[in-house]
Amino acid sequence: MRNIIITGGAGFIGSHVVRLFVNKYPDYNIFNVDKLTYAGNLANLKDVEGKPNYHFVKADICDFETIYKLMQDEHIDGIIHLAAESHVDRSIKDPFTFAQTNVMGTLSLLQAAKLYWESLPEKWEGKRFYHISTDEVYGALEMTHPEGIVPPFSTKASSGEHHLAYGEKFFTEDLKYQPHSPYSAAKASSDHFVRAFHDTYGLPTVVTNCSNNYGPYQFPEKLIPLFINNIRHRKPLPVYGKGENVRDWLYVEDHARAIDLIFHEGKVGETYNIGGFNEWKNIDIIKVLINTVDRMLGRPEGADMDLITYVTDRAGHDMRYAIDSSKLQRELGWEPSLQFEEGIEKTVRWYLDNQEWMDNVTSGDYQRYYEDMYAKR
Ligand code: NAD
Ligand code: DAU
Repeated sequence: MRNIIITGGAGFIGSHVVRLFVNKYPDYNIFNVDKLTYAGNLANLKDVEGKPNYHFVKADICDFETIYKLMQDEHIDGIIHLAAESHVDRSIKDPFTFAQTNVMGTLSLLQAAKLYWESLPEKWEGKRFYHISTDEVYGALEMTHPEGIVPPFSTKASSGEHHLAYGEKFFTEDLKYQPHSPYSAAKASSDHFVRAFHDTYGLPTVVTNCSNNYGPYQFPEKLIPLFINNIRHRKPLPVYGKGENVRDWLYVEDHARAIDLIFHEGKVGETYNIGGFNEWKNIDIIKVLINTVDRMLGRPEGADMDLITYVTDRAGHDMRYAIDSSKLQRELGWEPSLQFEEGIEKTVRWYLDNQEWMDNVTSGDYQRYYEDMYAKR
């Protein structure tokens, strides 16, 4: 496969996937298709924007005509689809935008791929539509062991010393979909459309559902970058509810490596769950962040614990997410490479060293990057 569209490449995970593909596959043409919503930031890709195999296309995935024409003009043979509205709190306030982009946008890409590939003599041969989804479609797991238990699995984990599970059940690929937020309902719906295009038309699809990602270039509305920035500036840390909710964290570059592997070697029609068996209660992670930021800034460790501020819980707040990624580990040999302690050190260090990136995002200046760098060309 030589000509690949990556949607949402200016976002958090997408920028890591674009960087990996542009650097690792110089003979592939990578087309980053992104609308540049508030979450899209081309400064995330400064280091690859001059490379000959990287092309930026400002477009809305809902714009079927533009996507279809791009596929024809550039002989696209693979799509890695990450573009989405991704923040749960925004979906609670504005569900329509989530249905539009996540559902209708995915449908528009599916239909463009189907019509274009079907028109070729070789049809589906060598083609792939890879849809990136989330573990949130499975709903919430119960927290049957609030103190934590040693997890009952032998596969590689990124949980390091912590290594606890907060219940016996995990999200497996065969679990029923039970989304709770408008965000996860829209993602679930898009997953169903992808599978419907495989089952009905034979489109060569693959779907993955990943747990919470963390790392550089994440928009500071999400827990980890928001809290790192607030601790730095000694602003309150708004902890939803009691801070007891559990999330399963994976370093973003490990997700990008999994996407590369599954795009090339995953079986058509299959679903793979991606996660590092790395469950943390929010409040525990917040304490790690405070200690790490304080230490790196030369403050006494824990000096900023009083920034923790318990606030009204998120509506419909899912209690626990925990991915079982043993299918991916067993069948394709993927493993998380980084332990959480290392990943968090790298992440905090990155945000502290890249204050200019953070200031551009929080001030809104990043939205002028496109006009400055691209529109004038
Ligand atoms: P993000 O919000 O950081 O980035 C989304 C990108 O999509 C942005 O660049 C935005 O401009 C672009 N976009 C939005 N609407 C668009 C449209 N209509 N047309 C074209 N581009 C559009 O998101 P992220 O956190 O990087 O997530 C990427 C994907 O991974 C999403 O599909 C999300 O559901 C999924 N996912 C995220 C996580 C996570 O922890 N962040 C975990 C599992 C799965
Ligand atoms: O599980 C994968 C999902 O992870 C992705 O599909 C989503 O796109 C991504 O945003 C993320 O969803 P979460 O809702 O889990 O992430 P968020 O960073 O918003 O919140 C993490 C946890 O922290 C969650 O339990 C809510 C809590 N939280 C979050 C914020 C922003 C707070 O307590 N306070 C906050 O200010």
